[in-house]
Amino acid sequence: MQVNKKIEEVAISAARKTGKILLKDFNNFERSKVELKSLREIITQSDLKSEKLIIKEIKKNFPDHRILSEEAGDNDKKSDYFWIVDPIDGTTNFSIHNPLWAISIGVAYKNEIIFGVVFAPFLDELFIARKKGGAYKDGKKIKVSNVKTGKVINTYCHGSNKEDAKKAMMYYGRQKLNNLDCRQLGSASVELAYVAAGRVESIVIPGANSWDVAAGVLLVREAGGRVTDFENKKWTLKSHDIIASNGKVHKDILDVLK
Ligand code: IPD
Ligand code: CA
Repeated sequence: MQVNKKIEEVAISAARKTGKILLKDFNNFERSKVELKSLREIITQSDLKSEKLIIKEIKKNFPDHRILSEEAGDNDKKSDYFWIVDPIDGTTNFSIHNPLWAISIGVAYKNEIIFGVVFAPFLDELFIARKKGGAYKDGKKIKVSNVKTGKVINTYCHGSNKEDAKKAMMYYGRQKLNNLDCRQLGSASVELAYVAAGRVESIVIPGANSWDVAAGVLLVREAGGRVTDFENKKWTLKSHDIIASNGKVHKDILDVLK
């Protein structure tokens, strides 16, 4: 299934339009505006505003499509087309004036991601990927790095439950003790885009939320990388964990996670 032009246009224009508005919020953001949505997770009015705008654009153009978004949840429509939206991925970064945050929109057809957009408004970088059509940053083709040894840079993050945090700490500890660079950049979609663009070699996420990764997974695949779960099985929307890499360091990462 090839993605159609209209889906691409709606996804890109929703991300860009919303990004422009979010950038103003970011520049004027006061940390006291942060609210807690659970014990450790935060939310801002900007997340909600962004989500409203994006969902409105999708619904206007594709009223019958299924949409899952981080804050609003699943509209449960019976459709082969499935939009998976994170209105701000990296809200904590956003709230502390760290520019690594993005809007992430993935579109699946029969549960296979066919199109993805990650737009980082402050960096003004637009990453897109279409299934069997390549990955691009600002219109230029991107590919994963060839780095396998030497200055390998791995990134990681984790889901909100304790078990996932423990796995992430174990992974981080082992990588650091192997003298390898391992960093948490604070936005899974940006980290995936960075793997796709060859800026870092990998990202590992125990307990990945589908809205954080749906678009970025396609970016990495289409940029020539590899995306699996911790058992080295192909990542699907049902997978709990994710390893996305340039392919060259994938086996090393699987070994570290054993
Ligand atoms: C978060 C980021 C972060 C990851 C968290 C996610 P959010 O997304 O992707 O890197 O560690 O698990 O929840 O909550 O800012 O959209
Ligand atoms: Ca979010």
